[in-house]
Amino acid sequence: MSRPPRLPARATRPITGLAARRPRRRIAVLGAGGFIGSHLVPLLASRPGTSIIAVDRTLQKLPDDPEGRVERVQAGIEDQRLLAEVIAGSDVVISLTALCNPALYNTQPLAVIEANYAHLVPLVQQCAARRRWLIHFSTCEVYGRVALDGTGRRMARMDEEDTALFLGPVDRERWTYAAAKQLLERVIWAHGRHHGLPFTIVRPFNVIGPRMDFIPGVDGEGIPRVLASFMHALLSRADLLLVDGGRQRRSFVDVAEFVEAVARIVDRPEACRGQILNLGSDTNEVTIRQLAVTLIAAFRAARPQSPPPRLRKVSAETFYGAGYDDSVRRIPSVEKAERLLGWRATRTLKQMLPGIVADYLARYEEAVQAPARAPRAVAR
Ligand code: UGA
Repeated sequence: MSRPPRLPARATRPITGLAARRPRRRIAVLGAGGFIGSHLVPLLASRPGTSIIAVDRTLQKLPDDPEGRVERVQAGIEDQRLLAEVIAGSDVVISLTALCNPALYNTQPLAVIEANYAHLVPLVQQCAARRRWLIHFSTCEVYGRVALDGTGRRMARMDEEDTALFLGPVDRERWTYAAAKQLLERVIWAHGRHHGLPFTIVRPFNVIGPRMDFIPGVDGEGIPRVLASFMHALLSRADLLLVDGGRQRRSFVDVAEFVEAVARIVDRPEACRGQILNLGSDTNEVTIRQLAVTLIAAFRAARPQSPPPRLRKVSAETFYGAGYDDSVRRIPSVEKAERLLGWRATRTLKQMLPGIVADYLARYEEAVQAPARAPRAVAR
């Protein structure tokens, strides 16, 4: 999912190239230049009879496309004319644009609400008006702090049909994101139920892999999500910071398996239209401290000479500022995805992390360590 930049949106050229060839299925991927888009677009484009319109403000993360199946449109989705053109020229619209970084929820709450709700309402309306199948990426955060059923009893898994959506008080601005995402889900649902919008809502659960977020000071600024945050610490030989001691739990899923599930959704319109689907792993749950320890082991296997990294506790207030709050535990029920898609994630963290570490080392090691190696100016 990519972060919409602020420049005014402009298409680089009219979206006509692929239209002339009349492929069987044209898929617009909005937010194609982000982490998930950069894995999803090549997979979808590799399938026979498919062409892609990849829209984002920056598309550098997208791999090369030697077959010419991907039309790149460098623009933001707030450009209404462009949006109308893209929707008219597509059979399926996959919407990935989001501000989905927790460090922003309590520091830029209005931008978060705009990006995750206000900017997307016209997209939903236009897909409804043209009856285009909208596959929208929501979030596991809509479930909130913990899994509760309708009577307030704890549930082991977060379930699409039965789990209540349990957000914190308004002054815990962490929940602006989940509230915006939830409201958009309700707008989509209402258009589906009352105005004929074909839709599928996906709730991703902690997807990790190469090209996630950014490394501060190299290709972004601020605090990325936990995997990139820890990789930044490892690459720059800083302490890995455990927010509130790292007791919070997440269940991580490999992006390669995740995008396979999304491709199955695209292939199964009858089964998936009108559905909300969790996509994640229910067997990869760890505390954030355990994630740090496992990642350190993978890093040291790749760089045995590096000094032993250290873990350091930090309060959420110090790390994120006032108004931060957290999900304590977040495990998806995967029963529905298994039933509708015949899909289940199987890769363990230990299997995933060496490849992720290798990718971060290849892309960032030199850039992060270059300033440290450069000769220092002598102070007068
Ligand atoms: C985020 C988004 O809000 C979700 O929309 C998204 O679905 C999810 O990531 C995802 O990756 O799929 P969250 O899991 O809270 O949710 O995001 P992270 O920033 O990855 O944080 C995970 C946990 O690690 C949090 O408890 C956080 O406090 C902790 N953390 C983060 C640290 O202990 N140290 C760090 O350096 C960074």
